[in-house]
Amino acid sequence: MKIAIVLGTRPEIIKMSPVIDEIESQNIELVLIHTGQHYDSEMSDQFFLELELPTPNFNIGVGSGSHGQQTGKMMEGIEEVLVEEKPDMLLVQGDTNAVLAGALVASKLHIPVGHVEAGLRSFDDTMPEEINRKTADICSNLYFVPTTQSAINLAIEGISRYKIAITGNTVVDACFRNLKIAEKRLKSAVSSDLQNLLDLDNILTLTMHRAENVDNKERVINIINALEQLKDLNIIFPIHPRTANRLKEFNLFDKLKNLENVHLIKPVGYLDFLLLQSKSLLILTDSGGLQEEAITLNIPALTLRYNTERPETVSEGGNILVGSNTENIVKMANKILNNKDFSDKMKSAKNPYGDGDSGKQIIDIILNSYNNGKLKIDSPSDIMINSSSKIAVINEDTTVSDFEKENNALIQIIYNKNDIEFPEDNINLKDKFILYSS
Ligand code: UD1
Ligand code: UDP
Repeated sequence: MKIAIVLGTRPEIIKMSPVIDEIESQNIELVLIHTGQHYDSEMSDQFFLELELPTPNFNIGVGSGSHGQQTGKMMEGIEEVLVEEKPDMLLVQGDTNAVLAGALVASKLHIPVGHVEAGLRSFDDTMPEEINRKTADICSNLYFVPTTQSAINLAIEGISRYKIAITGNTVVDACFRNLKIAEKRLKSAVSSDLQNLLDLDNILTLTMHRAENVDNKERVINIINALEQLKDLNIIFPIHPRTANRLKEFNLFDKLKNLENVHLIKPVGYLDFLLLQSKSLLILTDSGGLQEEAITLNIPALTLRYNTERPETVSEGGNILVGSNTENIVKMANKILNNKDFSDKMKSAKNPYGDGDSGKQIIDIILNSYNNGKLKIDSPSDIMINSSSKIAVINEDTTVSDFEKENNALIQIIYNKNDIEFPEDNINLKDKFILYSS
Protein backbone atom coordinates (compact mmCIF):
# COMPACT_ATOMS: atom_id res chain seq x y z
CA MET A 1 0.00 0.00 0.00
CA LYS A 2 1.11 3.54 -0.75
CA ILE A 3 -0.06 6.43 1.44
CA ALA A 4 0.45 10.09 0.56
CA ILE A 5 0.41 12.76 3.25
CA VAL A 6 0.00 16.48 2.66
CA LEU A 7 1.19 18.84 5.39
CA GLY A 8 2.54 22.34 5.49
CA THR A 9 2.35 24.08 8.86
CA ARG A 10 3.85 23.59 12.32
CA PRO A 11 0.85 21.84 13.93
CA GLU A 12 0.37 19.50 10.96
CA ILE A 13 4.00 18.36 11.16
CA ILE A 14 3.69 17.73 14.91
CA LYS A 15 0.31 15.99 14.77
CA MET A 16 1.16 13.87 11.72
CA SER A 17 4.45 12.70 13.26
CA PRO A 18 2.87 9.74 15.13
CA VAL A 19 1.08 8.69 11.92
CA ILE A 20 4.31 8.90 9.91
CA ASP A 21 6.15 6.90 12.59
CA GLU A 22 3.50 4.19 12.35
CA ILE A 23 3.60 4.14 8.53
CA GLU A 24 7.36 3.66 8.72
CA SER A 25 7.22 0.99 11.38
CA GLN A 26 4.66 -1.00 9.37
CA ASN A 27 6.82 -0.65 6.22
CA ILE A 28 4.11 1.07 4.20
CA GLU A 29 5.26 3.17 1.26
CA LEU A 30 4.97 6.90 2.07
CA VAL A 31 4.84 9.92 -0.22
CA LEU A 32 5.33 13.02 1.91
CA ILE A 33 4.20 16.29 0.35
CA HIS A 34 5.07 19.60 2.06
CA THR A 35 3.06 22.55 0.78
CA GLY A 36 5.69 25.04 1.94
CA GLN A 37 3.08 27.21 3.71
CA HIS A 38 5.39 27.43 6.74
CA TYR A 39 8.97 27.86 5.55
CA ASP A 40 11.01 29.53 8.34
CA SER A 41 13.27 26.93 9.88
CA GLU A 42 11.71 27.51 13.33
CA MET A 43 8.22 26.89 11.89
CA SER A 44 9.09 23.80 9.82
CA ASP A 45 12.58 22.26 9.44
CA GLN A 46 13.35 22.12 13.15
CA PHE A 47 10.32 19.86 13.70
CA PHE A 48 11.45 17.43 10.98
CA LEU A 49 14.83 17.18 12.71
CA GLU A 50 13.57 16.92 16.28
CA LEU A 51 10.79 14.47 15.50
CA GLU A 52 13.13 12.46 13.24
CA LEU A 53 10.77 12.66 10.29
CA PRO A 54 11.79 11.78 6.74
CA THR A 55 12.57 14.66 4.39
CA PRO A 56 9.47 15.40 2.30
CA ASN A 57 9.55 13.82 -1.16
CA PHE A 58 8.01 16.98 -2.62
CA ASN A 59 7.90 20.60 -1.47
CA ILE A 60 5.40 22.71 -3.38
CA GLY A 61 6.87 25.92 -1.97
CA VAL A 62 3.68 27.98 -1.89
CA GLY A 63 5.00 30.38 0.76
CA SER A 64 2.83 33.19 2.11
CA GLY A 65 -0.06 34.84 0.30
CA SER A 66 -3.81 35.29 0.27
CA HIS A 67 -6.04 32.28 0.86
CA GLY A 68 -6.91 32.02 -2.84
CA GLN A 69 -3.28 32.23 -3.94
CA GLN A 70 -2.06 29.73 -1.38
CA THR A 71 -4.86 27.23 -1.94
CA GLY A 72 -4.70 27.55 -5.74
CA LYS A 73 -0.94 26.95 -5.87
CA MET A 74 -1.26 24.03 -3.46
CA MET A 75 -3.98 22.43 -5.56
CA GLU A 76 -1.90 22.60 -8.73
CA GLY A 77 1.18 21.21 -7.02
CA ILE A 78 -0.61 18.46 -5.12
CA GLU A 79 -2.52 17.36 -8.25
CA GLU A 80 0.71 16.97 -10.20
CA VAL A 81 2.24 14.80 -7.48
CA LEU A 82 -0.87 12.64 -6.99
CA VAL A 83 -1.23 12.01 -10.74
CA GLU A 84 2.42 10.94 -10.89
CA GLU A 85 2.55 8.92 -7.66
CA LYS A 86 -0.95 7.34 -7.74
CA PRO A 87 -1.19 6.68 -3.98
CA ASP A 88 -3.89 4.37 -2.58
CA MET A 89 -4.92 7.04 -0.11
CA LEU A 90 -4.23 10.65 0.84
CA LEU A 91 -4.11 11.75 4.46
CA VAL A 92 -4.62 15.32 5.62
CA GLN A 93 -4.69 16.64 9.19
CA GLY A 94 -6.67 19.41 10.82
CA ASP A 95 -7.98 22.57 9.21
CA THR A 96 -5.29 24.51 7.35
CA ASN A 97 -5.31 25.43 3.67
CA ALA A 98 -3.35 22.22 2.96
CA VAL A 99 -6.32 20.20 4.20
CA LEU A 100 -8.71 22.03 1.90
CA ALA A 101 -6.40 21.80 -1.13
CA GLY A 102 -5.36 18.18 -0.57
CA ALA A 103 -8.85 16.84 0.11
CA LEU A 104 -10.41 18.66 -2.84
CA VAL A 105 -7.78 17.59 -5.36
CA ALA A 106 -7.62 13.95 -4.23
CA SER A 107 -11.39 13.50 -4.17
CA LYS A 108 -11.65 14.68 -7.79
CA LEU A 109 -8.94 12.19 -8.74
CA HIS A 110 -10.98 9.48 -6.93
CA ILE A 111 -8.17 8.94 -4.47
CA PRO A 112 -9.70 8.16 -1.06
CA VAL A 113 -9.08 10.85 1.53
CA GLY A 114 -8.53 10.17 5.22
CA HIS A 115 -9.07 13.21 7.42
CA VAL A 116 -7.15 13.08 10.67
CA GLU A 117 -8.80 15.25 13.34
CA ALA A 118 -12.07 15.36 11.39
CA GLY A 119 -15.42 16.52 12.70
CA LEU A 120 -14.32 19.54 14.72
CA ARG A 121 -16.74 22.46 14.44
CA SER A 122 -16.55 25.95 15.92
CA PHE A 123 -19.82 26.89 14.16
CA ASP A 124 -18.09 30.16 13.28
CA ASP A 125 -17.91 30.50 9.50
CA THR A 126 -15.82 33.67 9.71
CA MET A 127 -12.83 31.46 10.61
CA PRO A 128 -10.89 30.23 7.56
CA GLU A 129 -10.26 27.02 9.48
CA GLU A 130 -13.99 26.28 9.79
CA ILE A 131 -14.43 26.51 6.02
CA ASN A 132 -11.38 24.31 5.48
CA ARG A 133 -12.48 21.58 7.87
CA LYS A 134 -16.07 21.48 6.61
CA THR A 135 -15.01 21.35 2.96
CA ALA A 136 -12.42 18.68 3.68
CA ASP A 137 -15.06 16.62 5.45
CA ILE A 138 -17.31 16.73 2.39
CA CYS A 139 -14.40 15.37 0.32
CA SER A 140 -13.26 12.65 2.74
CA ASN A 141 -13.86 8.90 2.83
CA LEU A 142 -12.47 7.98 6.24
CA TYR A 143 -12.82 10.21 9.29
CA PHE A 144 -10.47 9.90 12.23
CA VAL A 145 -12.24 11.92 14.87
CA PRO A 146 -10.76 12.71 18.28
CA THR A 147 -13.93 12.46 20.40
CA THR A 148 -17.54 11.28 20.40
CA GLN A 149 -18.64 14.93 20.07
CA SER A 150 -16.77 15.29 16.77
CA ALA A 151 -18.29 11.98 15.58
CA ILE A 152 -21.75 13.36 16.38
CA ASN A 153 -21.01 16.55 14.43
CA LEU A 154 -20.31 14.46 11.33
CA ALA A 155 -23.26 12.11 11.86
CA ILE A 156 -25.60 15.12 12.06
CA GLU A 157 -24.18 16.30 8.72
CA GLY A 158 -25.14 12.95 7.20
CA ILE A 159 -21.76 11.18 7.13
CA SER A 160 -22.15 7.39 7.39
CA ARG A 161 -21.12 6.14 10.81
CA TYR A 162 -19.20 3.30 9.11
CA LYS A 163 -16.70 5.85 7.83
CA ILE A 164 -16.08 7.41 11.25
CA ALA A 165 -13.51 6.12 13.74
CA ILE A 166 -13.11 7.66 17.18
CA THR A 167 -9.35 7.45 17.64
CA GLY A 168 -8.41 10.22 20.07
CA ASN A 169 -6.03 12.91 18.91
CA THR A 170 -2.50 12.21 17.65
CA VAL A 171 -1.35 15.26 19.64
CA VAL A 172 -1.49 13.07 22.76
CA ASP A 173 0.88 10.52 21.15
CA ALA A 174 3.26 13.33 20.18
CA CYS A 175 3.02 15.00 23.57
CA PHE A 176 3.64 11.91 25.73
CA ARG A 177 6.46 10.58 23.57
CA ASN A 178 8.33 13.85 23.22
CA LEU A 179 7.91 15.18 26.76
CA LYS A 180 9.78 12.11 28.00
CA ILE A 181 12.59 12.84 25.55
CA ALA A 182 12.57 16.54 26.46
CA GLU A 183 12.87 15.86 30.19
CA LYS A 184 15.83 13.52 29.71
CA ARG A 185 17.92 16.03 27.76
CA LEU A 186 20.71 18.05 29.33
CA LYS A 187 19.80 21.62 30.19
CA SER A 188 22.35 22.78 27.62
CA ALA A 189 20.21 21.22 24.87
CA VAL A 190 17.43 23.74 25.57
CA SER A 191 17.52 26.76 23.26
CA SER A 192 19.51 29.66 24.70
CA ASP A 193 16.43 31.94 24.48
CA LEU A 194 14.56 29.70 26.89
CA GLN A 195 17.21 28.17 29.17
CA ASN A 196 17.12 30.76 31.99
CA LEU A 197 13.42 31.49 31.63
CA LEU A 198 12.52 27.92 32.58
CA ASP A 199 13.79 28.55 36.13
CA LEU A 200 11.37 31.43 36.72
CA ASP A 201 8.37 31.10 39.05
CA ASN A 202 4.75 31.62 38.09
CA ILE A 203 5.18 31.03 34.37
CA LEU A 204 2.34 31.85 32.03
CA THR A 205 2.94 30.48 28.53
CA LEU A 206 1.33 32.66 25.89
CA THR A 207 0.79 31.99 22.19
CA MET A 208 -1.52 33.71 19.76
CA HIS A 209 -1.74 33.81 16.01
CA ARG A 210 -5.43 33.49 15.00
CA ALA A 211 -6.45 35.91 12.28
CA GLU A 212 -9.52 36.99 14.26
CA ASN A 213 -7.25 38.14 17.10
CA VAL A 214 -3.97 39.33 15.66
CA ASP A 215 -5.39 41.00 12.54
CA ASN A 216 -7.70 43.07 14.78
CA LYS A 217 -5.88 46.03 16.40
CA GLU A 218 -8.52 46.57 19.08
CA ARG A 219 -8.35 42.95 20.22
CA VAL A 220 -4.55 43.03 20.26
CA ILE A 221 -4.60 46.19 22.40
CA ASN A 222 -7.07 44.61 24.83
CA ILE A 223 -4.89 41.53 25.20
CA ILE A 224 -1.69 43.57 25.70
CA ASN A 225 -3.47 45.67 28.34
CA ALA A 226 -4.32 42.46 30.18
CA LEU A 227 -0.72 41.23 30.01
CA GLU A 228 0.48 44.54 31.43
CA GLN A 229 -1.75 44.04 34.48
CA LEU A 230 -0.55 40.50 35.18
CA LYS A 231 2.54 41.70 37.02
CA ASP A 232 2.85 38.64 39.30
CA LEU A 233 3.21 36.31 36.35
CA ASN A 234 6.22 35.71 34.13
CA ILE A 235 4.72 35.67 30.67
CA ILE A 236 6.80 33.70 28.18
CA PHE A 237 5.67 34.40 24.64
CA PRO A 238 7.27 32.55 21.71
CA ILE A 239 5.83 34.76 19.06
CA HIS A 240 4.35 33.41 15.80
CA PRO A 241 5.69 35.26 12.70
CA ARG A 242 2.17 36.39 11.74
CA THR A 243 1.75 38.00 15.16
CA ALA A 244 5.18 39.63 15.10
CA ASN A 245 4.36 41.17 11.70
CA ARG A 246 0.97 42.46 12.79
CA LEU A 247 2.32 43.94 16.05
CA LYS A 248 4.93 45.81 14.05
CA GLU A 249 2.30 47.10 11.61
CA PHE A 250 0.17 48.28 14.55
CA ASN A 251 3.23 49.90 16.25
CA LEU A 252 2.64 47.69 19.29
CA PHE A 253 5.69 45.43 19.09
CA ASP A 254 7.99 47.67 21.15
CA LYS A 255 5.33 48.31 23.79
CA LEU A 256 4.95 44.56 24.30
CA LYS A 257 8.69 43.94 24.23
CA ASN A 258 9.29 46.57 26.89
CA LEU A 259 6.83 45.12 29.41
CA GLU A 260 8.92 43.83 32.31
CA ASN A 261 6.80 40.73 32.94
CA VAL A 262 6.74 39.69 29.26
CA HIS A 263 9.57 37.62 27.78
CA LEU A 264 9.26 37.74 24.04
CA ILE A 265 11.18 34.99 22.22
CA LYS A 266 11.21 33.39 18.77
CA PRO A 267 9.10 30.25 18.24
CA VAL A 268 10.89 27.33 19.88
CA GLY A 269 11.23 23.64 18.98
CA TYR A 270 8.69 21.07 20.12
CA LEU A 271 10.84 19.58 22.90
CA ASP A 272 11.55 23.01 24.38
CA PHE A 273 7.94 24.03 24.05
CA LEU A 274 6.65 20.91 25.82
CA LEU A 275 9.07 21.59 28.69
CA LEU A 276 7.88 25.17 28.87
CA GLN A 277 4.21 24.14 28.94
CA SER A 278 4.83 21.49 31.58
CA LYS A 279 6.52 24.07 33.86
CA SER A 280 3.72 26.61 33.44
CA LEU A 281 1.16 27.66 35.99
CA LEU A 282 -1.25 28.38 33.16
CA ILE A 283 -1.46 28.63 29.40
CA LEU A 284 -3.04 31.61 27.64
CA THR A 285 -3.62 30.91 23.98
CA ASP A 286 -5.77 31.02 20.87
CA SER A 287 -4.07 27.93 19.44
CA GLY A 288 -6.02 24.75 18.79
CA GLY A 289 -3.11 22.46 19.58
CA LEU A 290 -2.34 24.21 22.86
CA GLN A 291 -5.90 23.78 24.14
CA GLU A 292 -5.41 20.03 23.61
CA GLU A 293 -1.86 19.88 24.99
CA ALA A 294 -2.81 21.88 28.10
CA ILE A 295 -5.45 19.34 29.15
CA THR A 296 -3.09 16.49 28.24
CA LEU A 297 -0.35 17.95 30.47
CA ASN A 298 -2.80 18.96 33.26
CA ILE A 299 -2.11 22.69 32.91
CA PRO A 300 -5.06 25.12 33.25
CA ALA A 301 -5.82 26.91 29.97
CA LEU A 302 -7.46 30.24 29.23
CA THR A 303 -8.44 30.52 25.59
CA LEU A 304 -8.36 33.90 23.87
CA ARG A 305 -11.44 33.13 21.77
CA TYR A 306 -15.21 33.45 21.89
CA ASN A 307 -15.85 29.91 20.65
CA THR A 308 -13.89 26.71 20.35
CA GLU A 309 -14.02 23.62 18.17
CA ARG A 310 -12.54 21.82 21.19
CA PRO A 311 -15.59 22.13 23.50
CA GLU A 312 -14.60 18.99 25.43
CA THR A 313 -11.69 20.88 27.03
CA VAL A 314 -14.20 23.37 28.43
CA SER A 315 -16.87 20.87 29.51
CA GLU A 316 -14.22 18.71 31.23
CA GLY A 317 -13.18 21.81 33.19
CA GLY A 318 -9.61 22.30 31.94
CA ASN A 319 -10.16 25.30 29.68
CA ILE A 320 -12.03 28.59 30.01
CA LEU A 321 -12.92 30.87 27.09
CA VAL A 322 -11.96 34.45 27.96
CA GLY A 323 -12.21 36.06 24.51
CA SER A 324 -10.02 39.12 24.13
CA ASN A 325 -11.66 40.94 27.02
CA THR A 326 -9.03 42.60 29.26
CA GLU A 327 -11.00 42.27 32.47
CA ASN A 328 -11.88 38.60 31.90
CA ILE A 329 -8.30 37.65 31.10
CA VAL A 330 -6.90 39.40 34.18
CA LYS A 331 -9.60 38.08 36.51
CA MET A 332 -9.28 34.45 35.43
CA ALA A 333 -5.46 34.44 35.29
CA ASN A 334 -5.29 35.91 38.82
CA LYS A 335 -7.80 33.35 40.03
CA ILE A 336 -5.64 30.51 38.74
CA LEU A 337 -2.57 32.15 40.33
CA ASN A 338 -4.13 32.83 43.75
CA ASN A 339 -6.81 30.19 44.27
CA LYS A 340 -5.17 26.78 44.62
CA ASP A 341 -8.44 24.84 44.82
CA PHE A 342 -9.64 26.45 41.61
CA SER A 343 -6.37 25.78 39.84
CA ASP A 344 -6.20 22.17 41.14
CA LYS A 345 -9.71 21.53 39.86
CA MET A 346 -8.75 22.74 36.40
CA LYS A 347 -5.61 20.60 36.49
CA SER A 348 -7.61 17.49 37.34
CA ALA A 349 -9.81 17.78 34.22
CA LYS A 350 -9.97 14.48 32.35
CA ASN A 351 -8.12 14.43 29.04
CA PRO A 352 -10.78 13.72 26.37
CA TYR A 353 -8.25 13.01 23.60
CA GLY A 354 -7.30 9.38 24.25
CA ASP A 355 -4.32 7.45 25.57
CA GLY A 356 -1.63 8.30 23.04
CA ASP A 357 -2.13 5.45 20.58
CA SER A 358 -4.06 7.35 17.90
CA GLY A 359 -1.34 7.01 15.24
CA LYS A 360 -1.41 3.21 15.50
CA GLN A 361 -5.21 3.09 15.54
CA ILE A 362 -5.39 5.23 12.40
CA ILE A 363 -2.94 3.13 10.41
CA ASP A 364 -4.51 -0.16 11.57
CA ILE A 365 -7.94 1.06 10.41
CA ILE A 366 -6.53 2.19 7.05
CA LEU A 367 -4.78 -1.15 6.47
CA ASN A 368 -7.90 -3.05 7.42
CA SER A 369 -10.05 -0.98 5.03
CA TYR A 370 -7.48 -1.36 2.26
CA ASN A 371 -7.25 -5.14 2.70
CA ASN A 372 -11.05 -5.45 2.71
CA GLY A 373 -11.31 -3.48 -0.52
CA LYS A 374 -13.23 -0.71 1.25
CA LEU A 375 -10.97 2.05 0.00
CA LYS A 376 -11.97 1.58 -3.65
CA ILE A 377 -13.95 4.47 -5.12
CA ASP A 378 -16.08 3.28 -8.03
CA SER A 379 -18.76 5.10 -9.95
CA PRO A 380 -22.15 3.59 -8.90
CA SER A 381 -23.57 0.94 -11.23
CA ASP A 382 -26.84 0.39 -9.30
CA ILE A 383 -29.89 2.53 -9.97
CA MET A 384 -30.24 4.67 -6.86
CA ILE A 385 -33.39 6.26 -5.52
CA ASN A 386 -32.53 8.97 -3.05
CA SER A 387 -34.11 8.36 0.30
CA SER A 388 -34.34 11.11 2.84
CA SER A 389 -33.81 10.58 6.55
CA LYS A 390 -36.63 9.28 8.73
CA ILE A 391 -37.31 9.38 12.45
CA ALA A 392 -38.58 6.43 14.51
CA VAL A 393 -39.13 5.72 18.15
CA ILE A 394 -38.02 2.24 19.17
CA ASN A 395 -40.20 0.37 21.67
CA GLU A 396 -38.36 -2.93 21.93
CA ASP A 397 -34.93 -4.18 22.92
CA THR A 398 -32.78 -4.07 19.82
CA THR A 399 -29.24 -2.95 19.20
CA VAL A 400 -28.03 -0.49 16.60
CA SER A 401 -26.50 -3.20 14.42
CA ASP A 402 -29.56 -5.51 14.70
CA PHE A 403 -31.90 -2.67 13.68
CA GLU A 404 -29.66 -1.81 10.73
CA LYS A 405 -29.52 -5.44 9.56
CA GLU A 406 -33.26 -6.06 9.89
CA ASN A 407 -34.27 -2.84 8.14
CA ASN A 408 -31.38 -2.48 5.68
CA ALA A 409 -30.93 0.90 7.28
CA LEU A 410 -28.20 3.23 8.43
CA ILE A 411 -28.74 4.94 11.77
CA GLN A 412 -27.31 8.45 11.74
CA ILE A 413 -28.02 9.69 15.24
CA ILE A 414 -29.76 8.50 18.41
CA TYR A 415 -31.80 10.90 20.53
CA ASN A 416 -31.90 9.82 24.15
CA LYS A 417 -34.12 12.26 26.09
CA ASN A 418 -32.07 15.49 26.05
CA ASP A 419 -28.86 13.85 24.83
CA ILE A 420 -27.58 12.97 21.40
CA GLU A 421 -25.68 9.70 21.07
CA PHE A 422 -23.37 8.47 18.32
CA PRO A 423 -24.69 5.08 17.13
CA GLU A 424 -22.15 2.52 18.30
CA ASP A 425 -23.00 -1.11 17.33
CA ASN A 426 -24.11 -2.40 20.73
CA ILE A 427 -26.24 0.48 22.04
CA ASN A 428 -29.74 -0.68 23.05
CA LEU A 429 -32.31 1.47 21.24
CA LYS A 430 -35.29 0.79 23.50
CA ASP A 431 -37.23 4.00 24.30
CA LYS A 432 -34.95 6.11 22.11
CA PHE A 433 -35.58 8.13 18.97
CA ILE A 434 -33.41 7.47 15.95
CA LEU A 435 -32.70 9.39 12.76
CA TYR A 436 -31.98 6.85 10.01
CA SER A 437 -32.00 6.29 6.28
CA SER A 438 -32.85 3.08 4.43
C1 UD1 B 1 -1.75 28.85 9.50
C2 UD1 B 1 -3.13 28.19 9.41
C3 UD1 B 1 -3.76 28.14 10.80
C4 UD1 B 1 -2.84 27.44 11.78
C5 UD1 B 1 -1.46 28.09 11.76
C6 UD1 B 1 -0.51 27.29 12.61
C7 UD1 B 1 -4.48 28.51 7.38
C8 UD1 B 1 -5.59 29.26 6.78
N1 UD1 B 1 -4.02 28.95 8.57
O1 UD1 B 1 -1.93 30.18 9.95
O2 UD1 B 1 -5.00 27.44 10.74
O3 UD1 B 1 -3.41 27.52 13.07
O4 UD1 B 1 -0.95 28.11 10.41
O5 UD1 B 1 0.59 28.03 13.01
O6 UD1 B 1 -4.00 27.56 6.80
N2 UD1 B 1 5.05 33.64 8.08
C9 UD1 B 1 6.42 33.73 8.18
N3 UD1 B 1 7.14 32.56 8.12
C10 UD1 B 1 6.57 31.34 7.98
C11 UD1 B 1 5.18 31.28 7.85
C12 UD1 B 1 4.43 32.42 7.91
O7 UD1 B 1 6.97 34.81 8.31
O8 UD1 B 1 7.29 30.32 7.95
C13 UD1 B 1 4.26 34.89 8.17
C14 UD1 B 1 3.94 35.52 6.82
O9 UD1 B 1 3.98 36.91 6.97
C15 UD1 B 1 2.52 35.09 6.56
C16 UD1 B 1 1.93 35.03 7.97
O10 UD1 B 1 3.01 34.60 8.80
O11 UD1 B 1 1.81 35.97 5.74
C17 UD1 B 1 0.76 34.07 8.09
O12 UD1 B 1 1.13 32.77 7.65
P1 UD1 B 1 0.05 31.77 7.02
O13 UD1 B 1 0.72 30.48 6.74
O14 UD1 B 1 -0.70 32.40 5.92
O15 UD1 B 1 -1.01 31.59 8.17
P2 UD1 B 1 -0.82 31.28 9.72
O16 UD1 B 1 -1.25 32.49 10.47
O17 UD1 B 1 0.54 30.75 9.97
N1 UDP C 1 4.57 24.91 19.35
C1 UDP C 1 5.95 24.76 19.32
N2 UDP C 1 6.73 25.86 19.53
C2 UDP C 1 6.22 27.09 19.77
C3 UDP C 1 4.80 27.24 19.80
C4 UDP C 1 4.02 26.12 19.58
O1 UDP C 1 6.45 23.65 19.12
O2 UDP C 1 6.98 28.06 19.93
C5 UDP C 1 3.71 23.73 19.08
C6 UDP C 1 2.69 23.40 20.16
O3 UDP C 1 3.25 22.55 21.12
C7 UDP C 1 1.57 22.74 19.37
C8 UDP C 1 1.65 23.38 18.01
O4 UDP C 1 2.91 24.04 17.94
O5 UDP C 1 1.79 21.34 19.21
C9 UDP C 1 0.54 24.38 17.84
O6 UDP C 1 0.71 25.09 16.66
P1 UDP C 1 -0.03 26.45 16.37
O7 UDP C 1 -0.45 27.08 17.62
O8 UDP C 1 0.86 27.22 15.46
O9 UDP C 1 -1.29 26.00 15.49
P2 UDP C 1 -2.77 25.52 15.83
O10 UDP C 1 -2.69 24.35 16.75
O11 UDP C 1 -3.51 26.68 16.43
O12 UDP C 1 -3.35 25.19 14.50
